[in-house]
Amino acid sequence: MPVSFAEYLEAKFDLDERSLNREVREAFLRSLHGFAEIRCVDVGAGTGATMRRLLAAGLAVPLVLTSLDRDPLLLDAARDDALGWLRAQGREPSIDAGELHAAAGPATTLRFVACEFQDHRPQHPCNAITAHAFLDIVPLADALSRLGAWLEPGGILYATLNYDGDTTLLPVSDDAAFEATLIEHYHETMERRRVDGLAIGGAFSGRRLHRLLPDHGFEILACGSSDWSITPWLGEYRAGDAICLQALLDMIGGEAQRSGLFDPGRLGRWREERQRCLRERRLGLIAHQLDLLARLSP
Ligand SMILES: C[S@@+](CC[C@H](N)C(=O)[O-])C[C@H]1O[C@@H](n2cnc3c(N)ncnc32)[C@H](O)[C@@H]1O
Repeated sequence: MPVSFAEYLEAKFDLDERSLNREVREAFLRSLHGFAEIRCVDVGAGTGATMRRLLAAGLAVPLVLTSLDRDPLLLDAARDDALGWLRAQGREPSIDAGELHAAAGPATTLRFVACEFQDHRPQHPCNAITAHAFLDIVPLADALSRLGAWLEPGGILYATLNYDGDTTLLPVSDDAAFEATLIEHYHETMERRRVDGLAIGGAFSGRRLHRLLPDHGFEILACGSSDWSITPWLGEYRAGDAICLQALLDMIGGEAQRSGLFDPGRLGRWREERQRCLRERRLGLIAHQLDLLARLSP
């Protein structure tokens, strides 16, 4: 059964949690504690993974968080999830015109905006932006210009899980040369993709982001790797890892099949081999990614 996108996002929550760069994350949380009130936009929020992390972070100051995504159904799931979290924390949330408010503890307002991020015009400047597994799928320089315009001077951008050009499958395939061409093709499809005629962050979004931030008025405060290690652990897959592996095999194999460039028999044999590894809990995948924390120059 193919994995749905919402299912994939939920499955990767625990994986992302153990992959996020610890030091960059600590630097982000320290920066947040410097604000009297956090006004944050989570761009490409999906089902609200970053919101969940912020609600669990024990923030000592009021939080106004706007979760923005083009997909309203994902945001509905995020809202339901947040309601459950706030109730579980005993924070007596209320809903008003689709916004969630929790008064117990530091005041928290959660907004959900379904639109293209290019069309978003925040009513007030924010002092934090989070972009988790997002900047590889949008034109990077254009995104940085827009995000920079949303931020007040001194505001921070915490951009996490930026794919950076390397995926390794384990164990080495019976047809290693063929698998190498599949992964190369997978990267090429990212590199060729255009949004509004512009190249997206693509297969090297991590290093490109690192390169472009200073050109857009950002000072890089912290940077580190947040590689995915989706490997069997004591003979089992952790949390949603098997679903993530299935989704990633589907993405790599699917791009190859759609291109029509690969021998169907050889592709079929590769798929069978990798599916067997997955069933037998032997398949692993390492993907290189970067986390960055940057501050808009005052
Ligand atoms: C890879 S998902 C990441 C979701 C979430 N941050 C997470 O990691 O769980 C990227 C998200 O960006 C959203 N997205 C893609 N392009 C967008 C755009 N131009 N404007 C707003 N949202 C967009 C998608 O709907 C999707 O939910």
